[in-house]
Amino acid sequence: MLNLLQQLYLKFNLLSMKSGSYILIPLLLLGCSEGNLSETQSNVSPTTTNTDSNESEELLDIGQVSTIEIDNVILTSLPKSIVLADQAKVDLGRLLFWDPILSGDRDVACATCHLPEFGYADGRERSIGVGGVGSGPNRVEGHTGIVTRNAQTILNTGWNGINELGAFNPELAPMFLDNRTASLASQALEPIRSQKEMRGDVFSEDEIDVEIVSRLNSNAEYQTQFDAAYGTADITLAMVGQALADFQTTLIANNAPFDRWMRGDSNAMSSDQLLGMENFVSTGCADCHSGPLFSDFETHTIGVPEADGLDIPDSGDGNFGFRTLSLRQLTFTAPYFHGGQEDNLDDVVDFYNNPGRSENPNVPTNTLDTDFRNLPNVNGRLATTIVQFLEALSDDDFDRTKPENVPSGLTVGGSVN
Ligand code: HEC
Ligand code: HEC
Repeated sequence: MLNLLQQLYLKFNLLSMKSGSYILIPLLLLGCSEGNLSETQSNVSPTTTNTDSNESEELLDIGQVSTIEIDNVILTSLPKSIVLADQAKVDLGRLLFWDPILSGDRDVACATCHLPEFGYADGRERSIGVGGVGSGPNRVEGHTGIVTRNAQTILNTGWNGINELGAFNPELAPMFLDNRTASLASQALEPIRSQKEMRGDVFSEDEIDVEIVSRLNSNAEYQTQFDAAYGTADITLAMVGQALADFQTTLIANNAPFDRWMRGDSNAMSSDQLLGMENFVSTGCADCHSGPLFSDFETHTIGVPEADGLDIPDSGDGNFGFRTLSLRQLTFTAPYFHGGQEDNLDDVVDFYNNPGRSENPNVPTNTLDTDFRNLPNVNGRLATTIVQFLEALSDDDFDRTKPENVPSGLTVGGSVN
């Protein structure tokens, strides 16, 4: 009899032969003992195979994952490494990320809302872009007001879409809380075009792309940097998106206690955290929070209350569904949910207690996702151990480098004071 992991692996192999472009990690299909916490490491081959010989080198060689099967559910560590672009592209992407030159009024950088000290989120319920003053939770809104949603972490987004087997395709990686864009490179251009986030009122949506490209092309230092990275000083918007993507792919946090435990360090998680892991599975959280990032990257309607102060309700994917949020790095990224509705993890888990009802008047109870409605009561020790397990999914050791200067000479990270 094949175990669950073997079945999934075979199914996925067939799928990837069809689609041809997934990155596959070959697993030695051994040792997946069911729910036996003392022998939980599956053996993982350190080598990788080329599943599609036509793909570029970058798609082939990535780190490996470890898996465990509990009650017919597979939990998976993050890969040990991710393939990085040339250093010149990464360095360029970092400068662009911190440089407010990408915003209409030259006052907002990507880093304004994605700050290392908040796990590359901003510590706010909802973000403030154009015209804002101050940083993180202390930032005060300007003339464009507050954006609709809570800023997500960009740590580990190079793995968005990764499945239980550790397979992912960066070209198709789902982005945003409603999955409206695919790939980091395409995503990166959207905040630049958004009036409230970076564009402001001086340039229209039609004008801003041209404006940004012409600014970069008339900056001698950017010309040198783009030349070093791409072999041409004729800067295009696609190169900007790609450099930002290449930089963000380096922002990984893949050594959480859970990952270390999965890789064989039996002391990495406490006994309560291990109990929390089993409770997380038996409760049904993993039905949606699956794979190494603890997200199935699908949208689900779970009836989270509307965020405070919105003019029109946020209907997510159109049916009040939002993408299952990753459970990685949560100790850095409070507040939680798509509009920062909950301040701490106890309150989030309490939201899942008694899930038969909708907490959002725009979401009738009968439209709630079945996996959500089927959750049991989540309270008492069940809830506290689940929170302890969630805390084991954060890794303190990630790149927090802030450049001292950016080529525009503007304030690094935007004019935040
Ligand atoms: C004004 C604040 C703000 C600025 C500036 C900003 N972002 Fe974001 N970012 C957000 C918010 C809010 C979201 C969630 C929006 C959504 O899901 O609809 C987000 C989502 C993202 C995501 C998606 C993560 C995921 O898992 O889906 C990425 C990647 C990202 N931002 C990168 C960037 C880059 C690159 C820039 C600069 C070009 C940038 N952001 C500028 C606030 C901001
Ligand atoms: C039906 C699918 C589903 C199930 C089952 C589920 N979740 Fe979620 N989870 C989601 C979705 C969707 C979101 C985002 C909702 C939003 O922001 O509106 C989310 C968000 C979260 C967040 C917030 C993360 C952040 O960065 O803001 C946490 C924590 C969380 N879930 C934990 C759990 C726990 C613990 C369980 C089990 C008790 C669970 N979830 C069960 C789908 C699910």
